[in-house]
Amino acid sequence: MTVLGVVGAGTMGAGIAQLGAAAGMRTLLHDPVPEALERGTEGARRGLAKWVEKGRVGEDTAGLLETVSSLDELAPCDLVIEAAPEQPDLKRDLFGALSIVCRDDVVLATNTSSIPVTSLAGAAARPENVVGMHFFNPPPLMPLLEVIRAEQSGDRAVQTAVDAGRAMGKEVILVADGPGFLVNRCGRPFSAEGLRLLQERVATHEQIDRICRLGGGFRMGPFELMDLVGIDVGFEVAKSFTELSFGEPRWRPSPIQARMVAAGRLGRKSGRGYYEYAEGTPYRPDDPDPPEPGGGDGMTLAVVGSGPLADALRERARAAGYELREGGPAELVVDAGVRPHPSPPGGAPLLVLCAATSLLARGEQGAVGFHLLPPLDEAKLVELTRLPTTQPFAAEAAEEFFAKLGLSAEWVEDAPGLVLGRIVCQLVNEAAFAIGEGVGSADDVDAGLTLGLSHPRGPVAWSELAGVDHVLAVLDALWEERREERYRAAPRLRRAAVLGRSLQN
Ligand SMILES: NC(=O)c1ccc[n+]([C@@H]2O[C@H](COP(=O)([O-])OP(=O)(O)OC[C@H]3O[C@@H](n4cnc5c(N)ncnc54)[C@H](O)[C@@H]3O)[C@@H](O)[C@H]2O)c1
Repeated sequence: MTVLGVVGAGTMGAGIAQLGAAAGMRTLLHDPVPEALERGTEGARRGLAKWVEKGRVGEDTAGLLETVSSLDELAPCDLVIEAAPEQPDLKRDLFGALSIVCRDDVVLATNTSSIPVTSLAGAAARPENVVGMHFFNPPPLMPLLEVIRAEQSGDRAVQTAVDAGRAMGKEVILVADGPGFLVNRCGRPFSAEGLRLLQERVATHEQIDRICRLGGGFRMGPFELMDLVGIDVGFEVAKSFTELSFGEPRWRPSPIQARMVAAGRLGRKSGRGYYEYAEGTPYRPDDPDPPEPGGGDGMTLAVVGSGPLADALRERARAAGYELREGGPAELVVDAGVRPHPSPPGGAPLLVLCAATSLLARGEQGAVGFHLLPPLDEAKLVELTRLPTTQPFAAEAAEEFFAKLGLSAEWVEDAPGLVLGRIVCQLVNEAAFAIGEGVGSADDVDAGLTLGLSHPRGPVAWSELAGVDHVLAVLDALWEERREERYRAAPRLRRAAVLGRSLQN
């Protein structure tokens, strides 16, 4: 029988111990603080009892969980997972001590979420036996485990960690060491680009969150999420990414985070972050239901441009009762191609997709800009933008058109990709950098973000639905219009777009 040691009986350690016993391992849980050990053990036992009740595990599993009050009692372990506080020196000391206490072939794993595993492995007597096992909170419920291969990790240690994770019922992804490993790295643009959009005042934080929920199908927008995690925690993570990468512009913290922390607005835990949290009052209103689709009543419509979005809009407009007239003349013209159509039919209100340019850079000063991402049958919201020169009747026509397609409108300021497009394209870009740099495979990125961060789909899947050319067009336009290094496209993404391939290969 495998003997598992868990060091640190806090939020993560208690959950990991529960998983170990449930997987049939003799599990020794240790914490130097007696009350913490007691609390953690109780939590793990309660969790196991629930699983026994549900028939998920046998009654004998509770007997597999033992508490040990000294580190020396971990001597018989085959694998030790440390879930002690996130302090490099403390973890290094632990690995040094465990190297003396345990057998030479013990595998030592760290549940760190931000310290390079390579730097911790150096503190063990046998660095080849060290790996990262990054569980997600709460470990018993979250289906993902990220196994991190440090520079020194040997194949046996990696395999031991992968096997233990699978025995615990986890989907295991194997990733390289580096800032944020794979999941937290690839998830970073969600908040980082959200903050950027807020800083540029493209939209308010409430709007950005609503757009992510209703336009993109995310459970929460970036600002709700930052409030939940703690704005101070997110700020520290951003600073550590910058330090570890020697200043990568995509990962720099935002001055907004610094300001919020300085003001003591740390999120839910302090009663105020981007939102206010008061007993009995919801922090935001419920989302509106989208309008009922239909009512096109034979109105003539020209949708120009090609690609998944243009095709989906045509289909949805037809279903809503519009009469499609390719090439015009028509009562409404929608340019839904990724690249601007050279000569959309004139004489009618014009709606243009803000992908390869902002509305301003496109030069159609009377038009309305819009952006949304496929799959349209899941979207409930479209983003619209206007210039001071936009014709009011074109703005009305845009709202009416999308309402008949069953989409509510959110007016935001002009930018390539508007809000959701910018966030999703940066998620795809980060994934393309990570895949290109060998941090993990395309499948691992999508598994990581859906199972680890509960995204509605992974960045690779997004890029396939929208088209890699759409993603690249938004990034290149941001680069062109902002001249900021954070918008440079990943070489892997450009290659996929030029060759017409997926990020998969
Ligand atoms: N909480 C999360 O969402 C989360 C997610 C993934 C990874 N992690 C990582 O897991 C680790 C633990 O996080 P947590 O949230 O469970 O923290 P926690 O504060 O809930 O638990 C830490 C436990 O370690 C104990 N401890 C203190 N000094 C110790 C020592 N010298 N040796 C052993 N144990 C000691 C404490 O008594 C406490 O019970 C951290 O590295 C953290 O970055 C946390």
